[in-house]
Amino acid sequence: MEKTTQLYEGKAKKVFATDDPNLCIVSYKDDATAFNGLKKGTILGKGAINNRVTNHLMRLLEKNGIPTHYVEELSDRETLVRKVSIVPLEVIVRNIAAGSLAKRLGLPEGVKMKRTVLEYCYKDDDLGDPMVNEYHILAMEWAAKEELDLIASYSFKINQILSDYLREASIELIDFKLEFGKTPDGTIVLADEISPDTCRFWDASTHEKLDKDRFRRDLGGVEDAYQEILRRLLGE
Ligand code: TMP
Repeated sequence: MEKTTQLYEGKAKKVFATDDPNLCIVSYKDDATAFNGLKKGTILGKGAINNRVTNHLMRLLEKNGIPTHYVEELSDRETLVRKVSIVPLEVIVRNIAAGSLAKRLGLPEGVKMKRTVLEYCYKDDDLGDPMVNEYHILAMEWAAKEELDLIASYSFKINQILSDYLREASIELIDFKLEFGKTPDGTIVLADEISPDTCRFWDASTHEKLDKDRFRRDLGGVEDAYQEILRRLLGE
């Protein structure tokens, strides 16, 4: 399958059309941004690592009954995916307080939540991806009630599958962000990526951060952390 025209360029990926109207090619970049693009940089090797980690986890989820956009890994950085229209929501799943939740609620990072927390943000860079609730989503028709219920139930199931799997690799899944898409026949599928860019991964025993927080917070060892996730999950 060959790339034809570029459909979209985001902060971390490009999306290309192919000869098949139902398929796209995603190409992962080494570019990194944080704080809605205010902080910019490069994480060497990130594109290839995020591509491979995402595909590995998408295959795991598919095996466990979650429909995804994943079709086939084409190369280090490129993956064939089903063409979907993205539901304009970031779904955030949180097991342990960190990041913006810790700040908003005045919790120390690392406190275990008594129940899994689900949050939605409306995907709009100009507005800074504001947090919204189910009423906003239905009133704005970003998703229908049945679609949102399905998205929420997939998100909790994904959390269970990923948390169990990562624990085996001594990685604690603190929180993560998901995006869903709709195929032409209206099926909701998991889309976008699942990587150290979009998840908080802590070493289960030392609590060392193995994710993009090393870049966001200038902690150093950014490339090594991404490499360590690849090594623990894919053994290389
Ligand atoms: P937060 O604590 O900054 O709200 O982030 C929660 C989780 O969502 C964290 O794992 C990082 C991820 N995330 C993204 O993937 N993209 C984003 O734009 C933001 C703000 C967070």
